[in-house]
Amino acid sequence: MNPLLSLLQPYPFERLRQLFADITPNPAYTPISLGLGEPKHATPALIQQAMVDAVNRSPSGLCGYPATLGEPALRQAFAAWMLRRYALTVNPATQMLPILGSREALFALTQSVINRDAGVAGQKPLVVSPNPFYQIYEGAALLAGAEPYFVASDPARNFAPDWDSVPEAVWARAQLLFVCSPGNPTGAVMPLAEWQKLLELSDQHGFVIASDECYSEIYFRDEPPLGGMEAAAKLGRSDFKNLISLTSLSKRSNVPGMRSGFVAGDAAIIQQFLRYRTYHGSAMSGVVQAASTAAWSDEAHVVENRSLYRTKFAQVTPVLAEVLNVALPDAGFYLWADVGGDEIAFTQELYANYNVTVLPGSYLAREARGHNPGKGRIRMALVAETAECLEAAHRIRDFVQRRAV
Ligand SMILES: Cc1ncc(COP(=O)(O)O)c(C=O)c1O
Repeated sequence: MNPLLSLLQPYPFERLRQLFADITPNPAYTPISLGLGEPKHATPALIQQAMVDAVNRSPSGLCGYPATLGEPALRQAFAAWMLRRYALTVNPATQMLPILGSREALFALTQSVINRDAGVAGQKPLVVSPNPFYQIYEGAALLAGAEPYFVASDPARNFAPDWDSVPEAVWARAQLLFVCSPGNPTGAVMPLAEWQKLLELSDQHGFVIASDECYSEIYFRDEPPLGGMEAAAKLGRSDFKNLISLTSLSKRSNVPGMRSGFVAGDAAIIQQFLRYRTYHGSAMSGVVQAASTAAWSDEAHVVENRSLYRTKFAQVTPVLAEVLNVALPDAGFYLWADVGGDEIAFTQELYANYNVTVLPGSYLAREARGHNPGKGRIRMALVAETAECLEAAHRIRDFVQRRAV
């Protein structure tokens, strides 16, 4: 077997299962999970209908193998969306590809980008990642034969990763940098000045930037989050050199089960990524392409979805803020709360006494240079309906108040 497989860490939800293995939650309460970040709002009817129509049309969308490049109509829909959302002109023929959700693409892009034979002999290439981070970044780096280098997010600067702390020698060995904006779990949006810093570092050292933007449409400020390619264009970099953005329908359109998104950016990387994907076998089903074209072409359901999250966060955050150090994030659908102590004990006791599941922050981060930036924090995914999230918030408030006595 591939020895690199043994480097993979247990997924946070596996660790959570183990944490809860010997606990019987209080039967007086119905279970509520704020653990998994899985969208639960209803899938818009227009997307379902487009999928049904594609199955039923003749010849059916299930006849024939789909092309990895995707149908022209789908790529046009990506390009039209980029123009509407970011005022960017992106070439649908050379600068975009469909992906089966951003998870697989984050993984596959890493395999395409990393060159184990480049750099100093005996030293693995580095993949720079925020900390805490989406777990795929680490697994993708390890399986590509690279080594992750974690950069802690700083609560004092709206959870911005402390890029200035990264030594020059690390940037020199880096082949890939993951950026997650809006961030999971912090919800932080990266400002233009930070993009400028990272793009300049990429110019200097030649690493690729993978910009994970799957939460870009769920935001709480007036301004929509700045996209990576939007930032590059503002800085006069219209070729998007060494930059790939990953965008997904999962959260935007409540279709995590459809597995659909797209990558856009540097045409040279897109070309090689297409080559990789052709062999890997990551072509999107024609039926999913039809439903995705409909989803990217409609904005009304996205506005409605965002408004549901805004109402929910406006009601739930103040209840939790009475007892925890937590604030409305820039974007995303998580609250990243400071519990003022041991987050593992907090998670266990909350589950045992109130049947509410949250995720210990330390499970989403790694200890690097003596510090795990997820320690003392929990992540709460507000994906269920508002009433259920509010009920969870009231239970958490009771729990913290009683625990303090
Ligand atoms: C930061 C981040 N990136 C990527 C993904 C993957 O999403 P999908 O594969 O559904 O696009 C997730 C899913 O939760 C995520 O939190």
